[in-house]
Amino acid sequence: MDVRRHHSLCASLRSGDGNDADSASPSSTRLIDSRFEKWDVPISDQAPGQVRRWAADLLTRWGAADAVEDAVTVLTELVTNACQAGASRVIVSIEPDAGPNVIEVCVWDDAPGVPQKHEPDLSAERGRGLFMVDALAARWGHHALPLGPGCSGKVVWADLAAHGAGSGDGA
Ligand SMILES: Nc1ncnc2c1ncn2[C@@H]1O[C@H](COP(=O)(O)OP(=O)(O)O)[C@@H](O)[C@H]1O
Ligand SMILES: [Mg+2]
Repeated sequence: MDVRRHHSLCASLRSGDGNDADSASPSSTRLIDSRFEKWDVPISDQAPGQVRRWAADLLTRWGAADAVEDAVTVLTELVTNACQAGASRVIVSIEPDAGPNVIEVCVWDDAPGVPQKHEPDLSAERGRGLFMVDALAARWGHHALPLGPGCSGKVVWADLAAHGAGSGDGA
């Protein structure tokens, strides 16, 4: 992760640019000077599936179709975790040019607790999500990120390898 870029991304998550928390449809807002999209996802059982479609569409438009599978898998796990942890607000973001051939995906949530990766127990039904994220991402991590006064939370980020990013229409 390029720390400076990550900081500007965190600032973007904080900023008012973007959808309000009540946005019901999977649209998003793009910052003007960089390819970056975020979405304040309505909390529901549909959230992981909606985020999957949102991410697949964006990455395809950005010419990074080869990254779709890993990105949607990682985002699905992270959004599902945020919802299961009791988040009342979840914001997802994708930055396709986070570094040379690096796509960064982030999930911000306001749930208590932090991600804790366990070694997978093959007989257990749960506990494999972050193990999978760890396997697919070049790097990942999490840190506290308050969005404002009285709006504490954390962001879980993952850097994914991309080879096709940059050849899309930039939309
Ligand atoms: N966004 C999150 N907020 C709070 N706790 C989390 C979050 N993501 C993961 N965790 C914690 O990390 C654990 C491991 O997550 P994971 O590997 O996805 O397994 P599972 O979701 O099946 O329990 C979760 O059980 C939860 O305790
Ligand atoms: Mg999980």
